[in-house]
Amino acid sequence: MHILEEISQRYSPPIIDSREVEKEKVEAIFEAARRAPSCYNKQPWRFVVVKKEDETRKALEDALSLGNGWAKRAAILVAATAKPSSDCDTNGIPYYAYDVGMSVMSMTIEAEHQGLKCHQMAGYREKRVKDALALPQSSRVLALIAVGYEGEVESLSDKILARGKEAVTKSKERLPIDDIVFWGRYVDE
Ligand SMILES: Cc1cc2nc3c(=O)[nH]c(=O)nc-3n(C[C@H](O)[C@H](O)[C@H](O)COP(=O)(O)O)c2cc1C
Repeated sequence: MHILEEISQRYSPPIIDSREVEKEKVEAIFEAARRAPSCYNKQPWRFVVVKKEDETRKALEDALSLGNGWAKRAAILVAATAKPSSDCDTNGIPYYAYDVGMSVMSMTIEAEHQGLKCHQMAGYREKRVKDALALPQSSRVLALIAVGYEGEVESLSDKILARGKEAVTKSKERLPIDDIVFWGRYVDE
């Protein structure tokens, strides 16, 4: 089946390069993020963009969990944040998190279109991210995103390379369509 290549070809690479990304491309991905739909158009997302040369970079890298050490080489690290109070809570559902996810997906698809990669992470210590970036206590950090050009696998040690290859292969696995789409009514497992 043919779907948008930016969706079908997308994956989260194990290496994102430190090579600088053109300003227009960075602007394009945030323009895409800005256009995402949100509950009552509340647009709760706030992105903090941290480049290699930024003085906050080291403290942000230190907030990453050990397993996400690979992300330190990425040209850009983005913190996707929001204040829970800034969005709907219809039915008690935290739409701020839903909406930030929508915005990040929009950014990710545009990144693919621009020849870039996004690799999202939940593996970080939130308090340390907040301290590093001067975020208010009322904000939540929903994800860190490594953004840039995909890196050369040759630059990795054999062990990390094997782990990275395995991760990319595994990352292609998806539930069959019949497990996730129900026609007319839901059928519990
Ligand atoms: C909310 C979220 C958190 C994630 N956290 C991490 C992470 O901490 N470290 C990591 O290497 N990948 C992380 N990932 C990437 C996922 O492992 C990856 O998206 C998934 O395996 C599917 O692979 P794909 O993106 O290549 O299709 C995260 C992705 C999402 C959406």
